[in-house]
Parts: sequence; C-alpha cells; structure tokens
Amino acid sequence: MAAPRVLIAAGDIDHRVRELGAQISQDYAHVTMEQPVFLIGVLKGSWIFLADLARAISVPARFDFIGVASYGAEKTSSGQVRLTKDLDAPIEGCDVILVEDIADTGVTLSYLIDLLKRRKPKSLRIAALLSKPTRRTRDVPVDYVAFSIPDEFVVGYGLDYAHTYRNLRDVCVLE
Ligand code: PRP
Repeated sequence: MAAPRVLIAAGDIDHRVRELGAQISQDYAHVTMEQPVFLIGVLKGSWIFLADLARAISVPARFDFIGVASYGAEKTSSGQVRLTKDLDAPIEGCDVILVEDIADTGVTLSYLIDLLKRRKPKSLRIAALLSKPTRRTRDVPVDYVAFSIPDEFVVGYGLDYAHTYRNLRDVCVLE
C-alpha cells in the first residue's frame, strides 16, 4: 500500500478547529456553569477532534462519549450501526452537540440523532470534522463542518483504516 498522501495539513486543521470553537462559543454564549453545553464525542474516530475542539471552546462545557461501529475493518460501511458504548448520563433538557470525525453516508449520524432525540435534549446540533456531501444517503443536518472533502478514503487525526493511522497529525488519503 502506498504511503498516505496529505489532504489537510495539521496546521490547517488547527486553524479551522479554533474557528469552529470560536463559532460554537459565540452560538452558546448563553450557557452557564449550571447548564453547560454538553459535547458528546462519537467513539472512536472523534476523540482527537473533540480534544482539540474542547480546548477551543471558551464557554462552560461538559463531555461524554457514545460508541458506535459500522465499518469494522472494512473500507466501506456495513450499513448496520451497532451501539458499543452508551452515554454515562442523561441528556434531557441539555444543549447537546454531537461531535463526529466524519459524516459520510450519514447512516451513523441518522441513527444517533434518532437515539439522542428520544432522550429529549433541549437542543441538538452536530459538529463534524469532515463531510463528504456527495456520499450522503441520509438527510442529516450537520451544523458545524470543519472541511468538506471529495469521496476519497481518509485516515489520520482520529480516522482509521483497520484500526491503524488514527495518530497521524494530518488528514491523509489512503490510495
Ligand atoms: C466511521 C466514522 C463515523 C461513520 C461515518 O465510523 O467514525 O462514525 O463511520 O460513516 P457514515 O456517515 O457512512 O455512517 P467507524 O464505524 O469506522 O468507527 P470508528 O469511529 O471507531 O472508526
């Protein structure tokens, strides 16, 4: 397999994530220590993005994780989303932002939006590091997108191929 080709360099990711953090801080300027914005990272791919986004947000925030899997060790989605870890706390009445590494077909986000809406958050928005709009088969609203990318298989900055490459600093294409 050829070496990964850099698609989005670490410095560009850093700049854009800080912009998103500033935007979220502005949009959630009303939250308080008692009612912070609740960021939920989707495991595993989002943990690096969430770690950086968290530190770019200046309003009170709390964090939790939800685990789902649909790709396994393949390059294409199985189309079946499986919950691997549920939230530790209720989200009823909370301002929630679901944080994903990538919105591809939208199947995962669609599943998670349905699941979380049933728990009656006060509001629910979606943040994704990457979006592949041409791949979408589900109409999911992604409120904060760092980068829209073409339909190429990407790894790095949290994204994997067969559980490797997540620790690359850049988002790279695997050819
Ligand atoms: C990847 C990615 C998203 C989902 C996006 O998850 O992290 O959750 O696929 O694809 P979709 O829009 O087509 O549903 P994966 O199953 O690879 O798990 P991972 O996050 O643990 O790598």
